Amino acid sequence: MTSRIIGTGSYTPAQIVTNDDLAKIVDTSDEWITGRTGIRERRIATEENTSHMAVEAARRALENAGMKPEELDLILVGTTSADHCFPSVACEVQGALGAVHASAFDISAACSGFLFAMNALQAFIQARMYRTGLVIGVDCLSKLVDWNDRSTCVLFGDGAGAAVIRAEETGIRHTVMKSDGAKWQVLSCISRTNGNFLNNKDPKLGYLYMDGQEVFKFAVKKVPECIHEVLDESQTEIESIKYFVLHQANYRIVESVAKRLKQPMSKFPMNMERYGNTSAATVPILLDELNREGKLESGDRIVLSGFGAGLTWGATLLEW
Ligand code: UT7
Repeated sequence: MTSRIIGTGSYTPAQIVTNDDLAKIVDTSDEWITGRTGIRERRIATEENTSHMAVEAARRALENAGMKPEELDLILVGTTSADHCFPSVACEVQGALGAVHASAFDISAACSGFLFAMNALQAFIQARMYRTGLVIGVDCLSKLVDWNDRSTCVLFGDGAGAAVIRAEETGIRHTVMKSDGAKWQVLSCISRTNGNFLNNKDPKLGYLYMDGQEVFKFAVKKVPECIHEVLDESQTEIESIKYFVLHQANYRIVESVAKRLKQPMSKFPMNMERYGNTSAATVPILLDELNREGKLESGDRIVLSGFGAGLTWGATLLEW
């Protein structure tokens, strides 16, 4: 028994912000951003919040799967930008969808969030606790970045992607998840704290911080490693993989991973040009685009891989 993706959906805000738009608020240029990252524009939430994007992506995934919300047993949301400390985004989604039979909670693994949530759902299904689940990767990092910091604000966008997953005989074949908490400082967003009546602390505003070069080095080393691991452990030839759907942070990272894996760039679809880095949402948005463009056929072998704050990273091998 394993589980299979039977429907995908995604949502990105309507508001497009181009590199030239950002050059009006920080000292940057389209040439720098495109050349260093491959990003040309991103979607930024104006009316939408995190749960709104998650609900829209979920509705589209359910429609794509031909399923009703009442049929869901579990909703897992990978996010680090929930609208509230509590309740979870997953509970908000459950309420908005009317998924009355589903349990719901969030998983915090930053840009690896969708992957970690999907793997958790797979484990619940394998353990026969649930049969049908919804997994969402959603982030609204535009509310966490410092819009005066050109080294980070140009990189991120907002969005959500979702997949409906059901117990089946084929589908997810192997998963690898890793963490290195000793390096948590290289990519972080310190929580807003109010202090308490004893410690007299002032409220602090938390902005996203990233040591870009450290994260870059980590990604180009660890992503190929965990992809090799997931393939070796499942005794799968790398040549049999149709697509490597990687976290969309920087086209140079994707190119470097492709080179290290000795695989052609045609196996590495990319869309960061249009959306930037949407954190937990990059992998499911890209997967949804491939699905809707008819590029995924039954039996195709696909590797999904995410990496990000924590540090966290991982890979999942699945058959479509
Ligand atoms: O999803 C989370 C995972 N995150 C990532 O995967 C990000 C990984 N890191 C990266 O993608 C890259 O490190 C960045 C795109 C963030 C930065 O690229 P880089 O080639 O590592 O540039 P850098 O940080 O070494 O900066 C090079 C120069 C610096 O100027 P000096 O010191 O050489 O004069 C920066 O101040 O570029 C400058 N710079 C900018 N210039 C124009 C930094 N940001 C900008 C900017 N516009 N937006």
